[in-house]
Amino acid sequence: MTSKRVAIVTGATSGIGLAVAGRLAAGGHAVYLSARTGDDVKSTVENLREEGLEVDGTACDVRVPGDIDTLVRKATERYGPIDVLVNNAGRSGGGVTADLTDELWNDMLATNLTSVFLTTRAVLNAGGMRHKSWGRIINIASTAGKQGVVLAAPYSATKHGVVGFTKSLGNELGPTGITVNAVCPGYVETPMAQRVRQGYAAAWSTTEDQILTKFQAKIPLGRYSTTEEVAGMVEYLASDIAGSITAQALNVCGGLGNF
Ligand SMILES: NC(=O)c1ccc[n+]([C@@H]2O[C@H](COP(=O)([O-])OP(=O)(O)OC[C@H]3O[C@@H](n4cnc5c(N)ncnc54)[C@H](OP(=O)(O)O)[C@@H]3O)[C@@H](O)[C@H]2O)c1
Repeated sequence: MTSKRVAIVTGATSGIGLAVAGRLAAGGHAVYLSARTGDDVKSTVENLREEGLEVDGTACDVRVPGDIDTLVRKATERYGPIDVLVNNAGRSGGGVTADLTDELWNDMLATNLTSVFLTTRAVLNAGGMRHKSWGRIINIASTAGKQGVVLAAPYSATKHGVVGFTKSLGNELGPTGITVNAVCPGYVETPMAQRVRQGYAAAWSTTEDQILTKFQAKIPLGRYSTTEEVAGMVEYLASDIAGSITAQALNVCGGLGNF
């Protein structure tokens, strides 16, 4: 148990989730983090603890309902009722839509969308959030949740779903003191971003460097956003002063999307 605000962050061993976990912990939260790879969870917890931060965690595959229940139960037993949930775990994926397999489509839905519902429901119930008068649910969507992205129909569909879920639940929970928002990163330099560039380079028979140049040219700032810039928005949404912001989908994208 802790007197700090308690945050769960999914997919927190890499990229955006790792930056979010570090920033929330540095800002005074007790952070319970997760990802599929147990060794990475362990080393991430150790690294953050070496910085003097209050962090613990467990392995959880957000495609597996039982894993989600275990994550929320362990976090609640360790630190107490959950104040902040960051649904960050996600995957990229797509291709020529006529060639997509059922397996890919279903895995994208399970990883990016159904997981957000299941984890949110578990935090509201077993995590105790629905019995509190304050809470923050922050879903990492994407600018691809607001516009179509070529060769990424399943990704774009799931992220649109996350934005829709966010807006509906934000409205539903409005009177409760629990806010629900989506953060929509554009291009952020992470291992996922590297895999995405590899995919497009293969699909368009070009180099990853050329894909990088092409993507940068689409961004008014001329560069990818950083994980810290995305984490800063999450930290703000998790704060008291963001109390009147709910049911929104806020871009962190260097101007890539202005809608
Ligand atoms: N990078 C971008 O340009 C960008 C842009 C817009 C939105 N986003 C979104 O931001 C989020 C994070 O992306 P990122 O770029 O930081 O990705 P990343 O560097 O690939 O990190 C993904 C994290 O999620 C975990 N993860 C993956 N599948 C999981 C699963 N089924 N269950 C639990 N954890 C899982 C990974 O660890 P394990 O593999 O060990 O599970 C890792 O910790 C995603 O939702 C992504 O869609 C990213």
